Amino acid sequence: MNLLFLSFLASALAVGVQGHSGQSEDHGHSGHGSSDPFNHAGGVDWNLHKWEKPGPNDSRGPCPGLNTLANHGFLPRNGKNITVQNILDAVNDGFNFRPIDIMVVAAKVALLSTDNVNYVTLEESALYGNIEHDTSLSRSDYALGDNIHFDETIYQTLASSNPGVDYYNITSAAQVVEQRLIDDKIVNPGLINTIKEITFRTRESAFYLSTMGNVTAGTAPKKFVDILFREERLPLQEGWRPSPVPIDDSNFPALQSAVFNATKWEPSGKVICPWIRDQPEGPVFFF
Ligand code: HEM
Ligand SMILES: *[C@@H]1O[C@H](CO)[C@@H](O)[C@H](O)[C@H]1NC(C)=O
Ligand SMILES: *[C@@H]1O[C@H](CO)[C@@H](O)[C@H](O)[C@H]1NC(C)=O
Ligand SMILES: *[C@@H]1O[C@H](CO)[C@@H](O)[C@H](O)[C@H]1NC(C)=O
Ligand SMILES: *[C@@H]1O[C@H](CO)[C@@H](O)[C@H](O)[C@H]1NC(C)=O
Ligand SMILES: *[C@@H]1O[C@H](CO)[C@@H](O)[C@H](O)[C@H]1NC(C)=O
Repeated sequence: MNLLFLSFLASALAVGVQGHSGQSEDHGHSGHGSSDPFNHAGGVDWNLHKWEKPGPNDSRGPCPGLNTLANHGFLPRNGKNITVQNILDAVNDGFNFRPIDIMVVAAKVALLSTDNVNYVTLEESALYGNIEHDTSLSRSDYALGDNIHFDETIYQTLASSNPGVDYYNITSAAQVVEQRLIDDKIVNPGLINTIKEITFRTRESAFYLSTMGNVTAGTAPKKFVDILFREERLPLQEGWRPSPVPIDDSNFPALQSAVFNATKWEPSGKVICPWIRDQPEGPVFFF
């Protein structure tokens, strides 16, 4: 392990790190609009953030969270000209997820997926090796053809997890992460599975548990998670509300760490070192 690797890990894992970037403002939870609890649930004016199906020229990408935020107008509905600040505001306003370090880093790294210095489109964020990785929960691998669009067959691993109860949790999320790797090794023997991929994969699992459910308990109703993935819609009609407690460094890293710790993960394959692609035409850096 060299220093670059360690500093990469420090920012990528951010597990157990008590952040200092939490914003003190309590956006969106001032309670006004309580006379109209549905249209102002969570302090958001949902009349301004209705779900709309994306049009044929709207850009969407591999992240069900960002696609959903665009479908509700927290991000530009066309999915284009997105800035780092747009992403941080959208995640804050739509999910009550504060701009903690991992979120700021993710948003900045996404800007590397394009040659445009200021803006990224959701589709561009699918650049393989930037954030986009193999062995997703709901998308195929880049090498297999479509790493962007929702794939119900792949999603079945998650959809059928935690049988007998109506919620997903830390245990089931970790089992899904493991099972996807077992299955994906068969169809894509060249897949990349380093500490970077498992970090992102367990973080993305913590994203669906925390934003659709209870970040402290690490549980989320299956119905809500399934709608986020399948319809890229916030399940307001079904009873979902933004997390009543801000998702931040006081709760999110512990959840991610719990999912990570619940997996029996080992690196595998030809590429063992974490890597980053720093612009569409490369180069690729290994750590
Ligand atoms: C709280 C906000 C967010 C939520 C709820 C969320 C949710 C998710 C989930 C559940 C996945 C896994 C999809 C899968 O494996 O099939 C994912 C993947 C992804 N997310 Fe997000 N995400 C959020 C923020 C972000 C941010 C800030 C970025 C940066 C632009 C981002 C970019 C991506 C990308 C590129 C992927 C694809 C990774 C892959 O599967 O290869 N996400 N996201
Ligand atoms: C989408 O873009 C095409 C090509 O520029 C254009 O002809 C079409 O009218 C656009 N469709 C919509 C719904 O904006
Ligand atoms: C928006 O993004 C497109 C490419 O995605 C670019 O051509 C256009 O110039 C951008 N608009 C602004 C205002 O930057
Ligand atoms: C997750 O739910 C399953 C099914 O109820 C249960 O067996 C398991 O203990 C739960 N995991 C955690 C961490 O609570
Ligand atoms: C979330 O879970 C925690 C710990 O299990 C519990 O104390 C809290 O009341 C739950 N929050 C909600 C909104 O259900
Ligand atoms: C995960 O394991 C690490 C290393 O053993 C430990 O420091 C950390 O507290 C664990 N995380 C959780 C949430 O239990």
